Parts: sequence; C-alpha cells; structure tokens
Amino acid sequence: MRAPVRLLVAIASEQVRAAVVRELQGQADIETVMEVGDSTSALREAEESRPDVVLMGVDLEPEDGFETVRNIVARVPGVSAVLVAVNPTPADFRKALQVGARDLLEVPVDKKELLAALRRAAEVSKGKRNTLQEIATQLAQQQETKIAKRIVVFSTKGGTGKTFVATNLAAGLANTGARVALVDLDLQFGDAAIALGLVPQRTIYDLVQAYTEYDLTLLEEFMVKHPAGFSVLPAPLYPDEAERIMTADVQAVLDVIQTGFDYVVVDTPPFFEERVLVALDWADHVLLVAGLDIPSVKHLKTVFRTMGLMAYPEEKLLIIMNRADSKVGLEVSEVEKHLGRRVKAALSSSVEVPRALNAGELLLLSKPGSKVAKELAQLVKVFVGSDHEGSAKVAEAASRGGFLGRKSAKTNGSGSNGS
Ligand SMILES: Nc1ncnc2c1ncn2[C@@H]1O[C@H](COP(=O)(O)OP(=O)(O)O)[C@@H](O)[C@H]1O
Ligand SMILES: [Mg+2]
Repeated sequence: MRAPVRLLVAIASEQVRAAVVRELQGQADIETVMEVGDSTSALREAEESRPDVVLMGVDLEPEDGFETVRNIVARVPGVSAVLVAVNPTPADFRKALQVGARDLLEVPVDKKELLAALRRAAEVSKGKRNTLQEIATQLAQQQETKIAKRIVVFSTKGGTGKTFVATNLAAGLANTGARVALVDLDLQFGDAAIALGLVPQRTIYDLVQAYTEYDLTLLEEFMVKHPAGFSVLPAPLYPDEAERIMTADVQAVLDVIQTGFDYVVVDTPPFFEERVLVALDWADHVLLVAGLDIPSVKHLKTVFRTMGLMAYPEEKLLIIMNRADSKVGLEVSEVEKHLGRRVKAALSSSVEVPRALNAGELLLLSKPGSKVAKELAQLVKVFVGSDHEGSAKVAEAASRGGFLGRKSAKTNGSGSNGS
C-alpha cells in the first residue's frame, strides 16, 4: 500500500477546522500530521514536518491564508496547497491560483469534494518531488563525471609542429597540477611517444583489439606515464595496425578518457579522415598549427572553409602560428589580415626544438628560460585560470554543429545541422 498523504491543516476558525478534520477521519490514505490555527505556526510546522499537502483557511492571522500559502510554497519544496473560504468571491479564486494553491473550496466543505481536492493536490506534490529528486540526481551525476577540457591539435599540412605543440602543451598543463592525457591519433605514423622519449609496451591498437568495451581503469593500463606527470595513449607501433582501429573505437576512447582527466590533448595526422573528424567534433578547442608560408596559409583557408561547413562555432578554432619569426617575407599580421582572424599564439623558430626532440626532451621543461619555452608557457596559459575565456560557454557552443552530426542528419533525410 502507498504511504498516506501527509496533511497539515491550518484554519483559524475552530469550528471549521474541527468539521474538516472530522471529515478526514477514517480515510486510510490521508494522515493529518498537525492542526494549527494561525499563520506563524502554519509556516513553522510546514517547514518542520514537510507535509505533502497543506489545507489552509483564508481566515488565518496575522497573515491571511493567501500569503501563508505563498510563503509555504516558496519554502517547502514539492508541497501542494488547498484553500478553504467562507463565501469565496471570483477574485478569491484568482488570488488562490496566483499564490500557488491548487484549489479553493467553499465552507462548509463537501466531503467528496474535499477528498478529491486533497488527493489531486497530493498527486501534484508527488510529481513535483519526483522531478526535484531527478534534478538532484542529475546534478550529482554531473558533478561526479566532470568532463575534461578537450583540445585537439590539427593541421592539414605535415611537419607544421603539431606533435611539438601537443607534447609541450600536455607537459605545461600537467605542470599546473592538472591531470592530463595525451592521445596520439596520428594512427599510422604517430610519433608522440618517440618525441617524449617513451618506449610504449602497449598502444591504442592493443586496447581496441583486446576489448570491445572498456572503462577508465582499463584504458589507463594501456597508457604510458611521462615523468612530467601526464599519461600518453600511444599510436600503434606499426602503420598497418592503424586500419584496424575503427571510428567507433576512437569515439569510445575519447568518451571514456574525458571522464578521468582535467585536460585531454589529442595529436592528429595531417589530413581529414573520419577518425579525425570524430575528434574534431568532440573537441572544445581545435588548435590549428600553421607555418609562416603561403602553402600553410592556403591550407588554413581550406581548413576554415571545411570547418565552416561543419558549423563549428568560431571560438572553437584557434590559430597557432609556428616558426612565426621566420624571415620569409611574410608577417603574422598579413596572415591575420588575409584570413580575417587573429592568431591566438605565436611560437618562434629555434634550433632548440629539433634538438630537444632528438633528445626525447620537452623544450618547455628542459630549457624553460628559452624564448620558445616562454611562448609555449603563454600558450598553456590560454587554457588555464582566468585567461581561459569562459570555458563553459565555449564547451557549450563547441558541442553544437559538427561533421558527424551533419552526416547523420543527412541520412535521416532532414537537412538540418543537428548534433
Ligand atoms: N618552432 C620550431 N622551430 C624549429 N623547428 C621546429 C619548430 N617546430 C617544429 N619544428 C621541427 O619540425 C619538425 C616537424 O615537427 P612536428 O611537431 O613533428 O610536426 P607535425 O607533427 O605537424 O608533423 C620537427 O623536426 C620539429 O623539430
Ligand atoms: Mg606529428
């Protein structure tokens, strides 16, 4: 049997109150938890005993029944109220609804009408409480599964410095105390692990070969820990293994990995392919690494056009100009003018970069005083603390649009950009 409806009765007239309570006696599904005769006690009791329904006389004092209902509804989550009045006017009915009561009954109350009104009110209360419970559960779950900031480093041109940027960015973010993952999605020729001086025993290939479903704990077994404090999911060791990794595998890896870190940085191959598109859709930010040369700028233009087709919000795409000080007769400002977009960060050209790479070192850490390391530190700062422009807003905006969203929308025959 269902728990009885818990009712608080607050009516000033003792006679009316007694009459109402008498009608409710013997109703197994309604339990009168308290009877009071003034508005102060009514409010206090409602807050203390949290009834499902309050039955209020408009005759209450010092505050009348309408005001008391307004106060109780505001302070007791999920409660429903029914009013009773002698000779109610049409204005009273309107007022009752305005303050949030479900019903206004005329005194003397008809037993059947009273029971029906209380049961209806109880149903509404139950519905409201269930909804509140659901919202609370959802909020708790959202807090538990905090999602990482998702950064994908990309360009359609090889050798622009994607891996250089991705590895140093991961290290710089880890240096702030954040939990950071680096995923090498350059599945055929990924060299992030080598650049980091790591010798992976297992890679993303072994993970997706061995398991069809995985959680964070399992995934972390396939990651290598870098001494700088971040974890790397390496690219396959052999190029032919790459084709055995499916789009769905990449999606699953990204969806799981984002729940266990503060930042996930993804390195990519220099072309659009479905597994890269999954990552681009998934990302909060895409760092477009470009060089200071005409082919690079042409590539950038194409990328922007393609990504425009994917309906990504502008703020998702950030241009990183690498080797920005090269004396090649082209200025950063000219590139900005040509593209109609600002460059988010510029990194100088330095022989230290390939030197660090060859030593399996991270320039940001091994030569922190160098110009390039300082510029890298500036780039890291874009994603941490107050420098990071409204990450929640960006994340929300970033979840709009997307290549895969468009594709499935198309196959559904609706022309929209649903994501
Ligand atoms: N700012 C820079 N100054 C000098 N050399 C650089 C710079 N950035 C990248 N390089 C060199 O360019 C080559 C390609 O860099 P890499 O990060 O592997 O590019 P990608 O991943 O885009 O193919 C590497 O040898 C690297 O050392
Ligand atoms: Mg690379």
